[in-house]
Amino acid sequence: MDAIEVIRAKRDHGELTTAQIDWVISAYTRGEVADEQMSALAMAILLNGMNRREIADWTQAMIRSGERMDWSMLDRPTADKHSTGGVGDKITLPLAPLVAACGAYVPQLSGRGLGHTGGTLDKLESIPGWRASLSNDEMLDVLRRAGAVVCAAGSGLAPADKKLYALRDVTGTVESIPLIASSIMSKKIAEGTGALVLDVKVGSGAFMKTEETARELAETMVALGTDAGVRTVALLTAMDRPLGRAVGNALEVAESVEVLAGGGPSDVVELTVRLAREMLEAAGISGKDPAEALADGSAMDVWRRMIAAQGGDPDALLPRAAETMTVEAAESGVLTRLDAYAVGLAAWRLGAGRARKEDPVSAGAGVALHAKPGDLVRAGQPLMTLHADDTGRFARALEALEGAYTVGPSTAPQLPLVIERVT
Ligand code: URA
Repeated sequence: MDAIEVIRAKRDHGELTTAQIDWVISAYTRGEVADEQMSALAMAILLNGMNRREIADWTQAMIRSGERMDWSMLDRPTADKHSTGGVGDKITLPLAPLVAACGAYVPQLSGRGLGHTGGTLDKLESIPGWRASLSNDEMLDVLRRAGAVVCAAGSGLAPADKKLYALRDVTGTVESIPLIASSIMSKKIAEGTGALVLDVKVGSGAFMKTEETARELAETMVALGTDAGVRTVALLTAMDRPLGRAVGNALEVAESVEVLAGGGPSDVVELTVRLAREMLEAAGISGKDPAEALADGSAMDVWRRMIAAQGGDPDALLPRAAETMTVEAAESGVLTRLDAYAVGLAAWRLGAGRARKEDPVSAGAGVALHAKPGDLVRAGQPLMTLHADDTGRFARALEALEGAYTVGPSTAPQLPLVIERVT
């Protein structure tokens, strides 16, 4: 078999055979298919698509490129959540300890932010001492001690996806439903969770801008998970506006701790509790209700154990950016729109995100929102506070926010927080 034959088949709208897919993924992982050949194939897939059988074969081949984790030695079911990424999406931070407090083990491999979307590991790394990289034995130890672990995927997990994702990032081939679905699901299936809830974001701040594309991605991923024996459910959720009132690493940790303490913004609490119920149901666990575990402090207890088990100090003061700037409302009325992408871009330019994988992020940078869509605002009232390590970053963040919000005479309809459930 050779790469040119596989590329031509997809270029000419053909269906790739299982043998072709197995060969191309394994030869690419070994370095025998060149990056330029894989880029051409990824572009042909982006343009011409793959059917469900091809996507399933592609996913299985990526799983087989590396190790598959196994949690069968644990005495309780495992459950995990994956979000397709958004602005202010800190849900994993309160969710993982909450679900553990209700009786499941949560072994979660997470990623870093790239572009305008934040990454869970970057957020947790703003806690002094906290470590993202754990060996498999350390991961198991944290799980046993705390019930939940959130850490970076080791290099042995779906290495084909690692290589391919880096290539797609620089060849304009990220935005393909077959490639996104297989990339996410190869890692989640290899991670070995028994139950999986997918939070598929919809709107300007998400990969998927429309409900139709989000639904197609959700259905594809649910089918991949189910066929691989993982009980999988997806929710389509709103990402036309930021989630919560904090966007940025340490700012989001602080907001998550508020939620674990029984407070926090209502949208973050609602989504955390809903996802927790879905995870517990998918794992077959009934008993303690997640709302109760937030109220009685048991989720906070797990959070503190989980952070400490990974070297973090749950009582340490979080880093703060040296400089702040307030953005005020120009007129009075109702905030009818606050664009998620623009706020994410502003936070990124303030230093909360990175342009290239190897760049550092600022722990304290970001945007604190003082009003959300639906809130009444008065002219001159602070709408948001920008946080940055140096004042030189404010001008470009303000540029990103131009036209990002609207104040009108009355409330405007917005997407419901949970739009749809896909099984
Ligand atoms: N996240 C992933 O892990 N893979 C993609 O392709 C897109 C988002």
